[in-house]
Amino acid sequence: MRTEPSQPLRVLVTGGAGFLGSHLCERLLEDGHDVLCVDNFYTGTRANVASLFENPRFELLRHDITFPLYVEVDRIFNLACPASPRHYQLDPVQTTKTSVHGAINLLGLAKRLRAPIVQASTSEVYGDPAQHPQTEDYWGHVNPIGPRACYDEGKRCAETLFADYRRQHGLVTRIARIFNTYGPRMQPADGRVVSNFITQALAGEPLTVYGDGRQTRSFCYVDDMVDALIRLMNEPGDACEPVNLGSDDEIAMIDIAREVVRIVGATVPIEFRPLPSDDPRQRRPDLEVAHRRLGWRATTPLATGLAHTARYFIHRQAMHHEPGDLVRSTQIASHMLAQISTQNRPAAAT
Ligand SMILES: NC(=O)c1ccc[n+]([C@@H]2O[C@H](COP(=O)([O-])OP(=O)(O)OC[C@H]3O[C@@H](n4cnc5c(N)ncnc54)[C@H](O)[C@@H]3O)[C@@H](O)[C@H]2O)c1
Repeated sequence: MRTEPSQPLRVLVTGGAGFLGSHLCERLLEDGHDVLCVDNFYTGTRANVASLFENPRFELLRHDITFPLYVEVDRIFNLACPASPRHYQLDPVQTTKTSVHGAINLLGLAKRLRAPIVQASTSEVYGDPAQHPQTEDYWGHVNPIGPRACYDEGKRCAETLFADYRRQHGLVTRIARIFNTYGPRMQPADGRVVSNFITQALAGEPLTVYGDGRQTRSFCYVDDMVDALIRLMNEPGDACEPVNLGSDDEIAMIDIAREVVRIVGATVPIEFRPLPSDDPRQRRPDLEVAHRRLGWRATTPLATGLAHTARYFIHRQAMHHEPGDLVRSTQIASHMLAQISTQNRPAAAT
């Protein structure tokens, strides 16, 4: 698998102290690059990258990308933007500014440096899609004045800017349309399904499932997503069309809830609540372009990814004395360890 360029590069990761960004910084350092992580800590934290501080090739800069940035780098990943509705709707004007002014500032930097730049776009550019699964040539169905527009339209406008910098200035621009991604360092209270279910299970609370739980989602583990983003940056040639990235392994909400309960070993009920009116029945990317252009597909099984994520939340609770007592966390951790060692035991000869 070829993901590293042959020589070390200086790589800028905006939003590098967030969930996805911190994993990307880690991976780039492992690949031997110098990493400049830029973040205003709106949803990201220093703790997410604390393990990297001792690495002399890692640098952290507090900066808001709605203001211009003057640095010298060879590659740029633009990930800065709150990603969960709970966060991006707190200050919608700032969300649009981050997407639009942020893209203008980062593209300006890329133009001055002639540096390739990858944009973390989103499946939300498809809005409430009339087409399933969504292919990249589907233009979407977005309400431009609704409460989600600050994110959806902000990201759409950022894509426009990336396409125009490409056409007008000949920049190497790449657009990743990221679908649901999960893993360690998601925020516990960000309202996303996986973090919700795990934190509820760890706290011994019922898992909240909306509707009958048969609506489906597909979830990609963060390591797979980071791999895809790096492949997109390193893609030879000059393809610039957006690429869907995610998992096309659809799973019903109720099944994710059951899987979380099984992995955590919690004895908690599943509680059903009315389905919100704008909740899509189905969300799944068409990944043909990612397979063809990047030779990539997500490979981490859901059970493995969920176990890593649950372990992170247990550790976090213990470190921060968050809700969920230590005794319960320890019991759950022992349960998970026992499960993992059972799974790894060689099968008996028959
Ligand atoms: N996680 C997903 O499932 C998902 C899905 C689709 C798209 N994305 C995109 O991927 C990127 C990363 O998402 P994430 O899940 O890691 O979210 P996150 O909220 O954990 O990370 C975003 C980071 O950007 C920083 N940030 C926000 N505004 C900023 C600003 N103005 N200047 C500098 N830093 C700023 C935050 O502090 C945070 O560290 C986002 O652009 C998001 O839209 C993520």
